[in-house]
Amino acid sequence: MELVPGLAGVPAAESSICFIDGEKGVLEYRGIPISELAEKSTFLETSYLLVFGRLPTEEKLIAFEKDIKTHTRLKLKILRMMEYLPENGHPMDYLQAVVSAMGMYYPARDTLDESLRYESVVRLIAKLPTIVAACHRLRHGDAPIAPDNNLSFAANFYYMLFEKKPEPLIEKILDIILILHAEHSMNASTFSARVVGSTLADPYTVISSAIGTLSGPLHGGANEHVIKLLREIGVKENARGFIEKKIEEKEKIMGVGHRVYKTKDPRAVILQKYAHKLFEKGSAGNGEILEVAEEVERVVEEKLAHKKLYPNVDFYSGIVFKAIGIPTELFTPIFAMGRVSGWLAHWHEQLKTNRIYRPTQNYIGKREQDYETSKKG
Ligand SMILES: CC(C)(COP(=O)(O)OP(=O)(O)OC[C@H]1O[C@@H](n2cnc3c(N)ncnc32)[C@H](O)[C@@H]1OP(=O)(O)O)[C@@H](O)C(=O)NCCC(=O)NCCS
Repeated sequence: MELVPGLAGVPAAESSICFIDGEKGVLEYRGIPISELAEKSTFLETSYLLVFGRLPTEEKLIAFEKDIKTHTRLKLKILRMMEYLPENGHPMDYLQAVVSAMGMYYPARDTLDESLRYESVVRLIAKLPTIVAACHRLRHGDAPIAPDNNLSFAANFYYMLFEKKPEPLIEKILDIILILHAEHSMNASTFSARVVGSTLADPYTVISSAIGTLSGPLHGGANEHVIKLLREIGVKENARGFIEKKIEEKEKIMGVGHRVYKTKDPRAVILQKYAHKLFEKGSAGNGEILEVAEEVERVVEEKLAHKKLYPNVDFYSGIVFKAIGIPTELFTPIFAMGRVSGWLAHWHEQLKTNRIYRPTQNYIGKREQDYETSKKG
């Protein structure tokens, strides 16, 4: 069998969770276009859609939201454990460690038990924001803030981070960011979740493995580099020269290009629109960074459209995060807070027709070596 490095393009499962048409820039969750979900849904409703396969009725949504709110708190012992983790540890490492430890507090080994599965889904979606916020505060010497369950899911996260409630536009944008990151078919972290799930490991192990996979710089994190690039450019007038030089020197422009999208990423379109709304309100600064970004996009389109390179989700997400005051090291943990729903949906789907993953390899090493001779080198 021919080896395909990185299994690029090799189907690893049949799935009815997420559809992407990279040529046309289409992204759908369970058949619903992402633009519709961003406008009309909420992150919790979208999570329900992803995990359970259809939009909830009003009654079911109310019950789901209530269940989530019941589980936003962290056990004192988990908080204590977090206090002892190194302050210079990356928030993704905190998140992975804590999610993994949760498996000991909430044993859920019987992955075929439906009600246990539901509880695990609820706990994981509910607690990730609390862990991320607590980790951020602890790393800066501040006491974690308990969740305020009178607030929406997104507003509560903002409150636990900054000890104040967000403006409605920021609350809406945070929720949209979670929706946009909730699912994206068979990428590395989702594959990891499915592989670990296929062993019938408990859901906390499944999600901690996916978080670990997302923590690698080749998966999450290009948005951090986009911010760095835009700051380096500084003002709109510098963008053309700067980008043309990069293209000439064959350097990659961060936030541009995508394995799947050969047109503008539909998530970038939505984030760009909300970036405008944020800056129009004036509370997020003068919008110079957005002007620079849009000039970069124009030059990239002019020079690189023949290679089908357009802005991806990371091109505008960093700008939006910065505009609402999110620290850079939380960009990827917030990605995980959204993606957990997609991972859980794939875990559920995997268990329906489970077969443990067992690919093969093409062995290219030595054979039948003599031990003594080998020891001498
Ligand atoms: C995401 C990415 C890995 C996709 O890569 P890909 O579809 O496999 O495309 P390739 O790396 O094979 O590149 C194809 C061509 O486009 C060029 N290219 C790809 N991304 C580019 C970028 N961001 N800037 C400039 N040129 C780029 C490559 O140099 C290559 O040119 P060539 O044909 O002259 O050799 C790539 O676009 C990239 O590294 N982008 C920047 C990082 C980023 O934003 N990542 C977040 C993704 S959500």
